[in-house]
Amino acid sequence: MSAILKTQDLGITFGGLVALKDFNLDLRQGEILGIVGPNGAGKTTVLNLITGVYRPSAGHVFFKDRRIDGLPPHVIARLGISRTFQNIRLIPALSVLENVMLGRALRVPESPLAAVFLPPKTRAQRARWISFAEEILDFMGLSDVAEVDATALPYGKQRAVEIARAIATGAEVLLLDEPGAGMSTQEKQELSKTILDLRARMQKTIVLIEHDMKMVLNLVDRVVVLDFGCQIAEGPPETIKVNPRVVEAYLGKVEAVPDAGN
Ligand SMILES: Nc1ncnc2c1ncn2[C@@H]1O[C@H](COP(=O)(O)OP(=O)(O)OP(=O)(O)O)[C@@H](O)[C@H]1O
Ligand SMILES: [Mg+2]
Repeated sequence: MSAILKTQDLGITFGGLVALKDFNLDLRQGEILGIVGPNGAGKTTVLNLITGVYRPSAGHVFFKDRRIDGLPPHVIARLGISRTFQNIRLIPALSVLENVMLGRALRVPESPLAAVFLPPKTRAQRARWISFAEEILDFMGLSDVAEVDATALPYGKQRAVEIARAIATGAEVLLLDEPGAGMSTQEKQELSKTILDLRARMQKTIVLIEHDMKMVLNLVDRVVVLDFGCQIAEGPPETIKVNPRVVEAYLGKVEAVPDAGN
């Protein structure tokens, strides 16, 4: 597998605080990569740097060998990197379908809101957008709530809508920031299946930030572990779950990581 997304000695400081230092990521095409670490370790900061929300204080980001650090977020999104947010960001008073269509609108050179509010260039174009969004809703198990106000849905479903919107951008790389937060065990199992399906059926490459170690270790090909902005370990789940530095950083004491049941 070749690298689709790379970071080179990436870092950022806020005032005196080093939020991320010398971060080197080599994401391979078709990979599901987990980023784990305690609260404040720098996980979301990695996504903010890759997606152009933050400008790095040091280092670079490359997407398909093109340098993308310094580009604005909407340009990076159009190149093929999309994300979900730790704090859900759906547009209130828009339906699930409309929220997902906003993702699609990122791919065309006009205001995203035009996808929903303005007359489209042609009836056929609008019909194509709707049917594309409907296919994604079907994939995410959201067809039955397509017309519901997205922000009125239960938490787990809102997270699914966020993923649907990220898919709708057509991006090859999806960065998911704690998509399982607040979900029940059963919802997390369904989410894990969805993530595997995203790769198998939609050929996506995925970065997953998740606190549930059991879920991560069962799902991903490779794990990167952050602690206080530093990359303290990287490897397949089998090696990560027995790595003493990881166990100590993550659990705060030396103790086995919960059995992932592999
Ligand atoms: N815009 C910012 N301004 C100042 N400090 C920031 C900013 N963004 C992040 N930080 C700091 O950088 C550090 C890393 O934050 P980050 O949000 O990346 O952590 P995280 O690993 O995602 O944590 P969590 O698991 O709680 O989501 C924290 O100390 C945070 O307070
Ligand atoms: Mg975070």
